[in-house]
Amino acid sequence: MLKEFRISLFVFFLFACGFLYEMTMKPRCFFSCTPAYKTMMRPENILRHKRSIVFLETTDRLEPSPLVSCAVESAARIYPERSIMFLMKGLDNNSTHLLLNATYRGFSLLSAIENVFFFPLDMETLLKETPLSLWYTQVNSSAEKSWIHISSDACRLAFIWKYGGIYMDTDIISIRPIPEDNFLAAQASKFSSNGVFGFHHHHSFIWDCMENFIEHYNGDIWGNQGPELMTRMLKLSCNLTDFQEVKDLRCPNLSFLHPQRFYPISYPEWKRYYEVWDVEPSFNDSYALHLWNYMNQEKRAVIRGSNTLAENLYRRYCPITYKTLIQGKERIDQREAKGTPPSK
Ligand SMILES: *[C@@H]1O[C@H](CO)[C@@H](O)[C@H](O)[C@H]1NC(C)=O
Ligand SMILES: *[C@@H]1O[C@H](CO)[C@@H](O)[C@H](O)[C@H]1NC(C)=O
Ligand SMILES: *[C@@H]1O[C@H](CO)[C@@H](O)[C@H](O)[C@H]1NC(C)=O
Ligand SMILES: *[C@@H]1O[C@H](CO)[C@@H](O)[C@H](O)[C@H]1NC(C)=O
Ligand SMILES: *[C@@H]1O[C@H](CO)[C@@H](O)[C@H](O)[C@H]1NC(C)=O
Ligand SMILES: *[C@@H]1O[C@H](CO)[C@@H](O)[C@H](O)[C@H]1NC(C)=O
Ligand SMILES: *[C@@H]1O[C@H](CO)[C@@H](O)[C@H](O)[C@H]1NC(C)=O
Repeated sequence: MLKEFRISLFVFFLFACGFLYEMTMKPRCFFSCTPAYKTMMRPENILRHKRSIVFLETTDRLEPSPLVSCAVESAARIYPERSIMFLMKGLDNNSTHLLLNATYRGFSLLSAIENVFFFPLDMETLLKETPLSLWYTQVNSSAEKSWIHISSDACRLAFIWKYGGIYMDTDIISIRPIPEDNFLAAQASKFSSNGVFGFHHHHSFIWDCMENFIEHYNGDIWGNQGPELMTRMLKLSCNLTDFQEVKDLRCPNLSFLHPQRFYPISYPEWKRYYEVWDVEPSFNDSYALHLWNYMNQEKRAVIRGSNTLAENLYRRYCPITYKTLIQGKERIDQREAKGTPPSK
């Protein structure tokens, strides 16, 4: 009797320890955002409730770079009420094992954020019941030289058509909420980007874009299915004029947002993000900042203590990424140099 009592006391003690451990390690996530729970969620369950923010990875890459991690974390902070969806081609239907692998630190840190959800990107399923479906069955992806970009152009349209919300490139740092539901972003006067846009689900503009995508498909022309597509569709329904001051253009059914909203530093100037400024810009007229990663062929990165504009943006808008992938990286590098194993 006494032995049984001791055993049950011991079992109770074990449970209590486990509970306390969970509570102290992840106080906000108990019951709600453990990896197992999140990987069991189906996209439809999350999307039913709120308009989400979606990011795509159409390469097989799994571990987000610091910039990608910053884009996702900053969006999660700016839109705490919305789901942040990250669709990755390289993810199988079983991503839990990645969380336990120290190699995937960016993946783990983002997974631990309550409103961030990872899903496998299955193009065939995503494009189903859209005009792009037929095109997808006919195109020979290995013969397309820009397939990574073209597949991304297609997926973002299909996702926003089906579920609504905001699509963002993974090199955009969010700094304040976008107060528009249906919008395109001007990269320059009379020229739209497709790096960030938002629409209600089943918005006719996006359907028309998908039809035009297949009618005028030409994979050899850079951007033909991307910014060029958005721009020619916009011109069909809107009388584009030059922007006056920092005012957006109101078109039927959508707003065309001023270049200051996302591109306050234009692409010829992209290196300014990796420089030290005497007085940093306030970005008061911007909702998010596009860092032009495709211009960054020389792979400039944020270096701890460099005091560049990008470092200060990371520190402010994605502090977990900054701490883990920028500051933490050097600590691990130092430890590895000294030959001591990283602590848990
Ligand atoms: C992923 O797993 C879920 C649940 O086991 C299943 O319903 C779904 O069809 C799977 N998806 C893929 C793409 O394999
Ligand atoms: C999920 O991943 C684990 C670890 O890699 C593996 O053992 C398991 O078989 C996988 N399950 C499925 C359904 O792919
Ligand atoms: C972690 O992932 C890397 C890269 O995929 C792999 O080489 C390594 O074996 C994994 N480690 C564990 C413990 O699963
Ligand atoms: C697709 O393109 C590749 C590379 O150009 C070629 O080798 C292959 O035969 C093509 N496949 C089909 C089914 O046309
Ligand atoms: C605006 O949206 C409505 C409903 O989706 C559509 O019927 C109408 O043609 C659209 N107008 C323009 C100019 O695109
Ligand atoms: C477009 O705007 C210009 C300048 O405001 C104006 O002159 C022209 O009539 C407009 N065209 C249409 C079709 O509204
Ligand atoms: C930017 O906005 C902040 C807060 O609204 C304000 O304090 C600051 O003066 C503004 N800066 C500029 C350059 O407009």
